[in-house]
Amino acid sequence: MDFFIPEQASTFAPRVDLIFYFLTVLTTVITAGIFIALIVIAIKFRRIEGKERISKPLHSLTLELTWTIIPTIVCMGIFAWATWLFAEYLNEPEGGLEIDVVGKQWMWKIQHPNGVREVNSLHVPIGRPIKLTMASQDVLHDFYIPAFRVKQDVIPGRFTRLWFEPTKTGTFHLFCAEYCGTEHSKMIGTVTVMTEADYAEWLIGGPKKSPIEAGEALFTQRGCVSCHNGNSDARCPDLAGVFGETVLLKGGAEAIRDEEYLRESIMEPGKRVVDGYNPLMPSFQNQLTDEDVLNLVAYIKSLEKE
Ligand code: CUA
Repeated sequence: MDFFIPEQASTFAPRVDLIFYFLTVLTTVITAGIFIALIVIAIKFRRIEGKERISKPLHSLTLELTWTIIPTIVCMGIFAWATWLFAEYLNEPEGGLEIDVVGKQWMWKIQHPNGVREVNSLHVPIGRPIKLTMASQDVLHDFYIPAFRVKQDVIPGRFTRLWFEPTKTGTFHLFCAEYCGTEHSKMIGTVTVMTEADYAEWLIGGPKKSPIEAGEALFTQRGCVSCHNGNSDARCPDLAGVFGETVLLKGGAEAIRDEEYLRESIMEPGKRVVDGYNPLMPSFQNQLTDEDVLNLVAYIKSLEKE
């Protein structure tokens, strides 16, 4: 069904869809009825040579009342249903999570209650009302999440509200649904619905890594692993089990491979090169923070000789 209508991912979505499907079926049935009657009558009462067609004036009170009263009831019913649904939506549920949204050409800026900010992405927990207070910094925008069936104008000089309660975890489209300038079509983003626990973790910056885990990640990201890989033909010393050991340096001096030696070897690798190796390594001065270096050292210390 996703190709026809986006999946339903909020408490409100099935209720909006029900009225949508009802209107679709109703208009299809009426349209089909009119066209079928048109074709049948055109054939049945077509002009035939020698056959006279006389149209008598016809007045039927019953017929006129029927085609007045039934459509009136149906239309008023649709009006009442839609109005009731809209009123229900305007009636925000108690509690929930308040999040601020600012629209500007051409991005969505989001701020969570604890101050965490994001751009063109909105992370929310599942299963409780999310209430957005929205403002525009420049022109008219429109905050639209199809999977939640919610859409609200974002207007300069005034705050507007939008709420929804997600029922599915996952990632959904976020659009600007009001032409707001050249890059209107790029004013898009994602809404990520997470479990309560994942959201809490996300708010504090994702799962906290231990220094060793963080160091290991850096060791791979920064490409250290491509040389310090422990192979016999490696261009740089194997680091497993070296911590605290004494090593012979190029030029005959010795060094203890302690924390400071490791730090220095990352920041000024050419200063004390291990005997038998060339000073190939680039300096990571200004490229790694002190914390990065601490994490890398923690990782190197954790490596054991195989
Ligand atoms: Cu903002 Cu279109």
